[in-house]
Amino acid sequence: METVKITNLSKKFRRYHQKSSNIKYAVLNLFKGFGSSRHEDFYALKHINLSVQQGETVGIIGENGSGKSTLLKLIARILFPDEGTIETKGKIATLIELGAGFHDELSGRENIYVNASLLGFKKKEIDDKIDEIIEFSGLKHFIDNPIKTYSSGMYLRLGFSIAINVNPDILLIDEILAVGDENFQKKCFERIEEFKDKGKTILIVSHDLNVIERMCDRVILIDNGQQFSKQDPVEAISEYHKRLFQKRKQALRLGPDKTAVETSGEMRTLTATQFNRWGSREAEITSVKFFDDQGNETYDFRTRDHLKIRMDYHAKKLIKKPVFGIAVYTEDGVLLTGPNTRTGDCDIDVIQGQGSVEYVMESVPFLPASYLFTVSIYDHSLRHAYDHLEKCLVFNVVESRKVKDKFGTLHIPAQWRHVKKGKPEPR
Ligand SMILES: Nc1ncnc2c1ncn2[C@@H]1O[C@H](COP(=O)(O)OP(=O)(O)O)[C@@H](O)[C@H]1O
Ligand SMILES: [Mg+2]
Repeated sequence: METVKITNLSKKFRRYHQKSSNIKYAVLNLFKGFGSSRHEDFYALKHINLSVQQGETVGIIGENGSGKSTLLKLIARILFPDEGTIETKGKIATLIELGAGFHDELSGRENIYVNASLLGFKKKEIDDKIDEIIEFSGLKHFIDNPIKTYSSGMYLRLGFSIAINVNPDILLIDEILAVGDENFQKKCFERIEEFKDKGKTILIVSHDLNVIERMCDRVILIDNGQQFSKQDPVEAISEYHKRLFQKRKQALRLGPDKTAVETSGEMRTLTATQFNRWGSREAEITSVKFFDDQGNETYDFRTRDHLKIRMDYHAKKLIKKPVFGIAVYTEDGVLLTGPNTRTGDCDIDVIQGQGSVEYVMESVPFLPASYLFTVSIYDHSLRHAYDHLEKCLVFNVVESRKVKDKFGTLHIPAQWRHVKKGKPEPR
């Protein structure tokens, strides 16, 4: 049975431009009439087609701003299409934004009633469920406090507990599993598995491609509002990396100043591309730059070169024991290495204000190819992300005369030896 049917769906948004000090626009705006500002319509989604059968788990992947959340909001009827249709069968529960649909002044308990009734449940049905919901959330001692006193993790627990325990037919999940502690995440995944076993339908957006590959029967890749036609999880994820890679490469071609990831408030103002970024942002990565042994900024290296990466940060408040990490991936998204300051015995006591962290490779171990690079700041337990910039830039390794290795990805510093046994055979 088909539970979600999307036909030729398009959604437009209006983009307003920043006020311009440019006199020409000021004059043009005058002629357009008082109060009019410069804007344009753009398609956040274009010609999306999707048919989901009951019991299927479908993943939605794509870069930041590609239209994933918009798609889920359309299915949940929080937004409405400009073109095309969406048909759904059964009750829909959504975990779309942290605390969406919650009322700050009400208690956790009251919010459960409000939220579940919005999902179409009667008071009697909620009465029967409420103990289970509270139990699952682990918020028993806080459930009668107003939820404005909750942390973001507590919001998440409450929202997820409601969505998963009201027994919907279709569950929509947006990035939500990124927050919360490991135990709670584990509980959530178990519930989602049970949910799958019961033959329910799930649509899930996650930047965690391992989760997507593990959970999903099919994967929709959205790139700039448009859908990639193949839906096999492995194919879609590999296409995602391929496209990501091409975009990062184009960003590098913009020239030295634009190559590094620079952040000033809005990251996207400084790079031509966007990438997935998450975290609570009490501390932020403000710039990432690569240097050669002469201290020149570059993104082209040879195997066995010296490579220095400098990450500048800004901590808006005092943060104890932060952990800085990097990761290097191949073009297909295979993780080659993921060191951090904690495993690298570089304990950082506190950070506050600005500073930088450097990672130096004395000898680049990668063979000629291009590589994707990730950088992050986590708390000491590595569970809470302050800032995570996923696959945000590309660097290249080119042919080196020093290294003749050709096969594979890595150049491993090692020696060959030939050991002769016994005398040579007489002729
Ligand atoms: N309510 C809105 N008004 C205007 N533009 C929006 C609105 N919501 C999203 N957008 C824009 O639509 C595009 C897709 O957004 P979104 O669906 O949130 O992407 P994703 O979830 O893939 O990161 C982005 O360019 C975003 O800025
Ligand atoms: Mg989103």
